Amino acid sequence: MTVFALYNLKGGVGKTAAAINLAYLAAADGYKTLVWDLDPQGSSSYYLNVKSNNKNETKKVFEEELAVKDVVQGSLFENLWVIPADISARHTDALLSGHKHSKKKLKSLLGGLKGFDIVILDCPPGISLLHENIFNAADWILMPNIPTTLSINSFGTVNEYFENNDLDKSKLKCFFSMVDHRKNLHHEVMQHFYKDKIFFKNYIPYLSDVEKMGINQQPLFEYANGSYAAQCFRDLWHEVKKVCL
Ligand SMILES: Nc1ncnc2c1ncn2[C@@H]1O[C@H](COP(=O)(O)OP(=O)(O)OP(=O)(O)O)[C@@H](O)[C@H]1O
Ligand SMILES: [Mg+2]
Repeated sequence: MTVFALYNLKGGVGKTAAAINLAYLAAADGYKTLVWDLDPQGSSSYYLNVKSNNKNETKKVFEEELAVKDVVQGSLFENLWVIPADISARHTDALLSGHKHSKKKLKSLLGGLKGFDIVILDCPPGISLLHENIFNAADWILMPNIPTTLSINSFGTVNEYFENNDLDKSKLKCFFSMVDHRKNLHHEVMQHFYKDKIFFKNYIPYLSDVEKMGINQQPLFEYANGSYAAQCFRDLWHEVKKVCL
């Protein structure tokens, strides 16, 4: 089982769009794939049209009142399962702080999941105890970055955090997201950072077909399979597979 986390300290950078579209492509490739929505916003759950069956489900999973395998739900797509988020996911940090092995709890919960080839964690933005759990549990941390100053600042902060906390930096892989070809700044930032092998060559441009996932409440490929946006995600997925699987 390979665990990917779609993560960034910064919000609104395309984590969820990538989590859903990469999960869809993994499932279509025949990998038994699970999306675990760890974000109380529940955006992945929304895109996959799945709601939790239990009140305060996320909280109960982290408190081990519910077994993680029992909250896995099917989706409309073959080979694709979901653990949806609910608003109780906002308590995750508080719950973790009271736990004995507070930085390894998520890893231990993932141990209760059998039969999946790929798990994709859709992470809330931030850098907290939950995120330390994510860094420990994931085999690969995929970080979308918009090629702008603030996004790159947050990339620097995450890198520094890994260095200062003896975290395995080789897990960290980045890709550019919401790239706007009309902006010189985007080109300049990308050229500068491509020197760093931490970045995948393939990137996701700013395209309204991606934004329409919200209106269609579906992965991109279900309504725009022949689009440039779909091709960009396919190219990124091929590169992720080559490097990470
Ligand atoms: N490549 C893209 N082109 C255009 N719009 C995009 C693209 N990727 C994402 N979006 C839109 O930008 C917004 C934020 O994207 P998304 O929810 O994937 O980011 P996020 O990093 O998961 O955000 P959050 O930190 O709130 O979880 C959404 O409205 C989404 O539809
Ligand atoms: Mg998100």
